[in-house]
Amino acid sequence: MGLNQDRLESMLQCLRSQHTLNSGMTDGGFASHPSLSPSSLDFSIHILDQVPSTNETLWTLLADGAPPGTVVIATRQTAGKGQRGRQWDSSPGGLYLSLALTPNLNARDALLLTLCSAWGLATTFRAYNIPVSLKWPNDLILDGYKLGGILTETKIHQGQITKAVVGVGINWSNPVPETGINLQTFLGDCPNPEITSLEMLAALTIWAVASGYQTFDEKGVGTLLPSYQNLMLGIGQTLTVEGSAGVVLGVSNTGELRIRLNESARSHPNSPFPGASSTEIELMPGTINQGYPILRA
Ligand code: BTN
Repeated sequence: MGLNQDRLESMLQCLRSQHTLNSGMTDGGFASHPSLSPSSLDFSIHILDQVPSTNETLWTLLADGAPPGTVVIATRQTAGKGQRGRQWDSSPGGLYLSLALTPNLNARDALLLTLCSAWGLATTFRAYNIPVSLKWPNDLILDGYKLGGILTETKIHQGQITKAVVGVGINWSNPVPETGINLQTFLGDCPNPEITSLEMLAALTIWAVASGYQTFDEKGVGTLLPSYQNLMLGIGQTLTVEGSAGVVLGVSNTGELRIRLNESARSHPNSPFPGASSTEIELMPGTINQGYPILRA
């Protein structure tokens, strides 16, 4: 069931040369495709059978001096980590992958690393005719179900991010919960699927995360946000924040969810936001917990 390293490396090489061939025809980045190649990164890929968490293994390698571009992939994880301390079910058949970056970013922008990775992944899948959308901040959604997620962890020194580990879990052929979907099931209906192996999925994932970051690094947040929001589900949706009704507007410059609270909610005597000078608030991940977005169409 393990991944074949040679096959994965040759697929990455293929992506590199395809990009070199096409680089004269790019659209400037962010329009629909991560057109910037992660040229500055040499990937060093470690494929393991079983680890507690690929993020943890990668942090250990980084502490021992591994460079940015180091990747850890495992067949299974025994303590896979999801967002907000949740467990990530990690049985064989799924992709469990972590990539090290050394971003040049202020700590307050850490969430943007997740957003640019999610954007890189969704646009790459779309280039392979797989219509992945995004649930803020880190979920990959296919056909209304969760295809995968991202867990970004950072080390901060004097307010700057010095190292980051971007961990990606994608359902390939593994069993999924009822809100999930795996790619093989989705592709089962396609006569000529464009992703045909776990190695290919892994190569595309490495490429997508690295080029998503590189595009963000070079083009900036002002270009990332509109592109991310184009792929984001739930804009315009109503939700409830601590008892007050509001509408999702989009994402702020530091990656928080922008909500406009209804006037009636603000002026209510029991409102938690009575003195808010603006009708708009920004929420960090984990501060709301409702059915946003609608996972099934
Ligand atoms: C989420 O909750 O949606 C994020 C899930 C992230 C899971 C991946 S699997 C590879 C990497 N290692 C981990 O322990 N977690 C991430």
